[in-house]
Amino acid sequence: MNYKKFIDKKIKEIREIVGKEKAISVLSGGVDSSTVTVLGHRALGSRLKTIFINNGLMRENEPENVVKVFRKIGIKVEVIDAKDKFFKALKGKIDPEEKRKIISDVFYRDVFKKILEKNRVKFLLQGTNLTDIEETVAGIKFQHNVLKQIGISTEKKFGYRLIEPLIELRKDDIRKVAKLLGLPEEIHQRIPFPGPALAARVIGEVTQEKIAIVRKATAIVEKELKNSGAFQYFPVLMEDKATGVRGGKREFGNIIIIRCVESIDARTATPTKLSWKVLEKITKHLTNEIAGINRVCYDITPKPPATIEYI
Ligand code: XMP
Repeated sequence: MNYKKFIDKKIKEIREIVGKEKAISVLSGGVDSSTVTVLGHRALGSRLKTIFINNGLMRENEPENVVKVFRKIGIKVEVIDAKDKFFKALKGKIDPEEKRKIISDVFYRDVFKKILEKNRVKFLLQGTNLTDIEETVAGIKFQHNVLKQIGISTEKKFGYRLIEPLIELRKDDIRKVAKLLGLPEEIHQRIPFPGPALAARVIGEVTQEKIAIVRKATAIVEKELKNSGAFQYFPVLMEDKATGVRGGKREFGNIIIIRCVESIDARTATPTKLSWKVLEKITKHLTNEIAGINRVCYDITPKPPATIEYI
């Protein structure tokens, strides 16, 4: 694939679609949305507004970090606080697909729609990729950002049009485009992070308390596995609890599963053969630094039959 030609073609396409109007890019800080934001910025300059939705489900310091990284490359990012909306909508929901649909709904029907109306903008740029589409169409899981391909027209339903420049590409190609666009390594080599964010790493009901636990655990796991070279690594908070003993007293505590996988494009994955020493170190950090975690397990299931995420 000729990446330079791809970039030129997409910039031209975005310009043609948007014409003299304005567009909005929703940036999450991941490789895909970052790539789309730079493409949009190159195509439209100041006619592109870039926003980061703080849904309360992001990793530690994520909004601040994203704003900082993009400021360095000359792109202003506006942070919009929508935490309450997401937690309210997720209250009491335990079914994984229902949780995914709710998150998608709050984004598209509520948050994006209002932002686009307020700014009088009719175009929304987003970083949907080929794997997202294939998994949703095949009914494996409803990826939060796949709509058109399953027959949902945002134009008819919400009054705005989606522009998705990356739908032909998979993660490995998107990383190459991102690098060529001048995005820093911390972005183009960033591990994938799902649209439903930390809500995808909480089994059962998503509450502020559970998100706080998994957020702390994510910071620990990402720090310890930063140099593992793996495709993706993260903790998941189980709904079941387990008996433990702390300070000589019984504790009925939380169970964390660590997932770390090798993959090229997320279609298939194999568990990384992490060393015992590394696993012990992570376990020590998790159980010592996060109250209530008294059990840590390592997942050795490949995809298939598992998927990478747990919901
Ligand atoms: P699974 O769990 O299906 O995940 O093996 C494959 C890859 O996709 C990421 N993922 C998502 N990405 N929106 C996204 O943008 C989503 O709803 C979503 N769900 C999963 C996952 O992290 C993995 O890299």
